[in-house]
Amino acid sequence: MKKTILSLAFVFATIAAAKAQTKIPPNIQKLLQKNTCLACHNPDNKLVGPAYKEVMAKKKYKPEQIVELIYKPKPSNWAGYPPMAPMSQVPKDEAMQIAKWMVTLK
Ligand code: HEC
Repeated sequence: MKKTILSLAFVFATIAAAKAQTKIPPNIQKLLQKNTCLACHNPDNKLVGPAYKEVMAKKKYKPEQIVELIYKPKPSNWAGYPPMAPMSQVPKDEAMQIAKWMVTLK
């Protein structure tokens, strides 16, 4: 009985941990790394910039709007954060792939 309770607790803890930590698909991980987004952003946690989940929860952007914001950030959207530098070096198709993944985050 004690064992059952313990293994149930373990299962629930595992589920909770899996939920808290977003798995980034390998192709997106590569783009986020190459374009240095991960230096300032994590899907789940605030780093230098807001968590991507928080961005999506607050703003409900369409992918096109996210691409626009990568090239022309609006720091006034995120009071309390330092301004993100415009990242015009990110290729458009890569920005779009990142944006399309971002809108799937919940
Ligand atoms: C040097 C740190 C840094 C890097 C690198 C960086 N960001 Fe940001 N980002 C921030 C900060 C700080 C904010 C909040 C302030 C702002 O929007 O200017 C932000 C905001 C954002 C937002 C919210 C925009 C809004 O107005 O709601 C998105 C989306 C975003 N970043 C995506 C990206 C992506 C994608 C990359 C990689 C191509 C990236 N960021 C690279 C620091 C960074």
